[in-house]
Amino acid sequence: MKYFLWSTIFILLIGTFIFFLMKDMFVTEELFYDDDQEGLNEQIVIRFSHVVAENTPKGLAAQQFAEIMNEKSAGRVRVEVFPNGALFSDSEEFTALLSNDIQMIAPSFSKMTDIAPEWELFDLPFLFDHLKDVEEAFTGNIGQQLLAMLDDRGVKGLSLWSNGFKQMTSYQKPLVEPNDFANQRFRIMPSRIIDKQFTLLNANPVIIPFNDVYYSLETFEVDGQENTISNIYSRRWYELQRYMTISNHGFLGYTVVMNEDFWNGLPDDIQTQLNEAMAETTKWILQEAEQMNNKMLIEIERDSEMEIYYLTNEEKEVWKEKLQPVYDMFLQDANRELVELVEKLKN
Ligand code: LMR
Repeated sequence: MKYFLWSTIFILLIGTFIFFLMKDMFVTEELFYDDDQEGLNEQIVIRFSHVVAENTPKGLAAQQFAEIMNEKSAGRVRVEVFPNGALFSDSEEFTALLSNDIQMIAPSFSKMTDIAPEWELFDLPFLFDHLKDVEEAFTGNIGQQLLAMLDDRGVKGLSLWSNGFKQMTSYQKPLVEPNDFANQRFRIMPSRIIDKQFTLLNANPVIIPFNDVYYSLETFEVDGQENTISNIYSRRWYELQRYMTISNHGFLGYTVVMNEDFWNGLPDDIQTQLNEAMAETTKWILQEAEQMNNKMLIEIERDSEMEIYYLTNEEKEVWKEKLQPVYDMFLQDANRELVELVEKLKN
């Protein structure tokens, strides 16, 4: 009996010893292999934050840029896109970029004007009549000059993306003549030019972050706002507003920027790939944004009670005249050359 007990203990000890010797072999066979983890140590992660919905021109372009970059770099660069202000609101994203919490953003031009007031150019009312001029301004000399002005301001300017022409919406009454704006409160982006535009219309502009606009329209903190169809549609503001005027009075575009130190620290070949991926995406968004806005307008017309009014050319002329002092304000600050460049490409 004693002999049997000792033999059992001996066999168990030997068994345990052999198990520990061989366990690595068994475990290796069962490990789940995830090829996403391959080369993780060298992978460059770019966190790209923006405030709009995924199904908008900017939302889709950001996603597309991430995919092109992943392909071009064979997985060496991973661009993580955070839409809908999930990480940072539009009033926070610039600080987050400068402190490298995120590496890329694409704020609207208005939101660039704090660090580069020259970008106010694109907030001027009725600056563009045709998309082909917008395209030329964004991809040509004017865009290059404006991007260069960002050097040494903590951000690397990569490109200009377009969304589309802005339209006016309101709850109280249709907006046809300048007088219709009087005493109403309008949500605006932070921009001296847009503020002046609504002040000239005897309205009260109120700066509100993009993600709070729905609530401010719902609670009547403001009566109306101006934006592109894709933002009005994707944020369902059209369900809260009774009237929309297709005025094409302004253009909403974006400056795609990266944290400057982060950019400078990237290897040359990655910088080249980023520039190429950005050029492809810019081309895509310039072509697609208009179609997206057009499709969404059809959906609003079909699915909502909103009254939509198309401003005539004569009515536009009246708005233009009323808003002319905005130009005088902008030109006072020696920005004449930029406006002249736009005028030149329109001819
Ligand atoms: C807005 O604040 O209305 C826009 O800048 C939002 C956007 O990024 O399109």
